[in-house]
Amino acid sequence: MIGIIGGTGVYEIVTMGDEIDTKVLKTPYGNSPKISIFKLHGKKVAFMSRHSKGHSKPPHMVNYRANVYAMKKLGVDRIIATNAVGSLEREIEPGDFVIPHDFIDFTKLRNGTFYDDRTVHIDVTDPYCSELRKTICSSGKVIDGGIYVCTEGPRFETPAEIQMFRMLGGTVVGMTGLPEAVLARELEMCYASISTVSNYAASISPSNLTIDEVFDIMDRKKHDLLTLMDTAISNMAEERTCHCIGALKGAEI
Ligand code: HPA
Repeated sequence: MIGIIGGTGVYEIVTMGDEIDTKVLKTPYGNSPKISIFKLHGKKVAFMSRHSKGHSKPPHMVNYRANVYAMKKLGVDRIIATNAVGSLEREIEPGDFVIPHDFIDFTKLRNGTFYDDRTVHIDVTDPYCSELRKTICSSGKVIDGGIYVCTEGPRFETPAEIQMFRMLGGTVVGMTGLPEAVLARELEMCYASISTVSNYAASISPSNLTIDEVFDIMDRKKHDLLTLMDTAISNMAEERTCHCIGALKGAEI
């Protein structure tokens, strides 16, 4: 099964296929949000809204472990995540889709692992599934590669922070990409993000940031985003041949 974790602006995907079921799953970390199951291009697709209905959970309060665990429990082996991000580069404009190949994690307060009672050091040399990234990149007009900087939020960044992220090589900044990507790898699932640029980052933007501009761009890009995901799902190979499958091999003491 293929999983979609919808971020800001993506709370349902009713237009994408025929809904066949909805579920809330119990996990050791709490209940999952509502999960809708669809049939699309002959494949089963499970959709959840990361922030839950009405965007009730801000980025630092999302139960990332329950969300990813529920996907695994359902039988999902590949996750496409959508994230709204600010751009750290003038050439990458609001409305662009970036498919990150790496990340820098500046989150502080989140449960970042499933393995609290065993020692597991997961390898993230290739932090986003290269096979899944390739499929997405060949499915529409996107920017192939970029470094996703994840902040704790929920506030936006200071000019000094943005300057630092640029110096570190960051491409986009968001609040929800981590620990989701790592949790998926810990459960040997493929994971890639479609990061939609909703604004220039603070101090690159000519004006102060508002959440209204973020929602405005996400609304305007929603149709293209759903089309991109639809094409990517139709292009996905039946079998996975990437390294995500054996992520726990050699990771555990
Ligand atoms: N910073 C952090 N998260 C974001 C931004 C931003 O500029 N835009 C959308 N999510």
